[in-house]
This record gives sequence, structure tokens and C-alpha cells, in this order.
Amino acid sequence: MTTFESIRTTLPGAAYHSDETYAVDQERVFFRHWMYVGRAQRVAKPGSWLRVDIAGESVLLVRGRDEQIRGFYNVCRHRGSQLCDGDQGEVRTHLRCPYHAWGYALDGTLVTTPMIEREEIDRESTSLWPVRTEVWENFVFVNLSRDEPQPLMDALGSQQDEVLSLARVGLADLRIGHVSTVEVQANWKIIMENYNECLHCPTVHPELMAVVPAYRKGSVQEDGRDDGGVTLADGRTAVAADPRLRLPLLPGLKGQEGPAAYFGAMVYPSMFLDVDGSSALATAVLPTGPRSCRLVTEYLFSPEAFDIPGFDPTPVIDFNDLVTRQDNEACERVQRGVMSRAFDRGVFPAKDSWVHAFDERYLRDVRD
Ligand code: FES
Ligand SMILES: [Fe+2]
Repeated sequence: MTTFESIRTTLPGAAYHSDETYAVDQERVFFRHWMYVGRAQRVAKPGSWLRVDIAGESVLLVRGRDEQIRGFYNVCRHRGSQLCDGDQGEVRTHLRCPYHAWGYALDGTLVTTPMIEREEIDRESTSLWPVRTEVWENFVFVNLSRDEPQPLMDALGSQQDEVLSLARVGLADLRIGHVSTVEVQANWKIIMENYNECLHCPTVHPELMAVVPAYRKGSVQEDGRDDGGVTLADGRTAVAADPRLRLPLLPGLKGQEGPAAYFGAMVYPSMFLDVDGSSALATAVLPTGPRSCRLVTEYLFSPEAFDIPGFDPTPVIDFNDLVTRQDNEACERVQRGVMSRAFDRGVFPAKDSWVHAFDERYLRDVRD
């Protein structure tokens, strides 16, 4: 028996780039699980809409007159034109198809069909195709499954990371300070795997080592803490370059003594939620193809912060931009490497156990 017996292997190379695997991932993963699409604040008032493309399916979130947020496929029931082209917008009374101008009320009902006799089309049965939508702490998730999915709360409660408990910082009340979108030339699993380990931290993120000393050991956890957090260095309350930066603490952390901690949580298969003393970052990982993703990050702060004259979230944004750029470059380099004909599988040492757990989770979805 060798000591190497416990070494486990990664997914096979093709799982990270082939069209066949991507087709399986679409059906078994993205069109079956709850996918994070954005904060409710992004569709702030009746008539606001947000378009989110999920692994090739275009979805609209629309806030209705009744304040309810509804999801629809971005597809006209007439001849199938997409309804909305941009990322977001606002309409007064209805969504209007750019092809033959059919109009849909904010609840998806077909209401106008110019030049077509009213009795010709049964409007009742020609509403926009709905998409299941649920909201947790003002984070909006959609589910494209044809079958009844498990409730969102059950899904959030059965994650590898303690997602639900993060609500304690007052997530529902947070407000958006900034939204960034970046395209990454890497398969979604490479991005998820990278999020689940810190063996790369000392080499890839030199600046982050000063902020989170626990990462110097290459572990995602900190000795002596059992809450899944890692302590911020030098009394920091924000993940930023300057240790003196002080922004209002998140509502649920007010009155807390001592240094703040950073908590990172993944919601399989498509969300990162990173919380520190004074900000929370919600990232939607939206696959755009077998070898590419779009990452949309919302920077959330305490509502109090927006009352402060000259409130400036730039230091938090800049630091996260830097770390994310470093991660994305690493992921793109991995993408190029795993496409080599030489790469059959990689190996997992013990400190990659969370990455291995992610792969196991994924395999449960795609195995026959
Ligand atoms: S395709 Fe939309 S109105 Fe014709
Ligand atoms: Fe990283």
C-alpha cells in the first residue's frame, strides 16, 4: 500500500470543454437548479425589467403593478422573436415585441396585437411563458425546470457552505453600490473549483495575503474558528487594500467588537456570496458556452452608507476587481491547459477537498 492511495482525481479533461458535456450541463444543471439572477433592487419599480441569459436561455425579470417580481422567457408568443435586447430597462404599461408590436402586460398577459382581429388569437392562453421565480433576502433566483423543483429554501439549506445563516448580517436590507460584469474564457466548473480552494492564494493573490492571513497556509478555513469565517488582518472591517478604511458595518454586525471576518459561500451551481464587515458581494456565474462564462457582481452595502455624503465604495470595488482579475486569469490559463490532448485528469491533494466535494456534487447531477 502506498501513501498515494488516497489521492483523488479531477473530472476528465473533456468535462471542462466539450460541446457534449455542455449540453448535459445545460439540461441537468442549469435548467434544473435554482439559478441566481440578481438583486430585487435591479427591478426597482413596476415596469422595470432585467434580462439575464442563462446557458443560452434568455430570461426576463419584470416587476408588476402589484410589486411582484415575475420571470418570463424572453420569447414572443407570435413567431418567437426575443422581446428585449438590452440588459435592463423600464416600460410604462407593457413589453412590446420589436417585430410585429404585440404587447404583453407586466404579468405576461398578451394585451395588444396590432392589425390582428381580437377573436383571432386566444389571448388568455398566449401569455409569455413563465419562469419560476423565488426570492431569498432580496436575492432573486429562477428555475427553468419543467418539473416541480425543490423549494428554493431547501436548496439553499442543503449547500456545502452555510448560506442561510449569512442572513444574520441583514442581507435583505442591503443596497447596491455598484454592479460589474466580466466575461471569462473558462468553463463554469473551472471557476467554481477555483472558488473552492486557496492553495492558489499565495501565488495568485499576493495582495490578499495581507488582508486574510489565514490564506497564507493555502486553506479556505482558519484554525480556531468554527463559523467558516476567516479573520481580517489589522482590525480591518472591509476587504480592501487600506486597513484604515471604515464603511458603515452591515446592519446585523452593528455593535460587534473586534476584527471583522470574511465569509465566502457558494450556492451550487451559480452563485458566490462573499460577506465581510461592511459589504456583501453577490456574484452570478452565468455560463455563456462550453468554454466561457459571464460573471455579474453586485456590491452591496448597508443602507446607512448611502446617507453619508461622499460615500465611496471604490476601494472595495478596486480590491475585488484585482482579486477577481487574478482568479479569472488563472481560470483562463487552466482552460487552455485542460484542452490539451495530454490532460486526461488532474489530481486532488487533501487541501483540495472542497474542490473534490464540488466535483462529487456535480457528478450526482450528471451521472446516469
Ligand atoms: S414575433 Fe413578436 S410580434 Fe411577431
Ligand atoms: Fe482566488
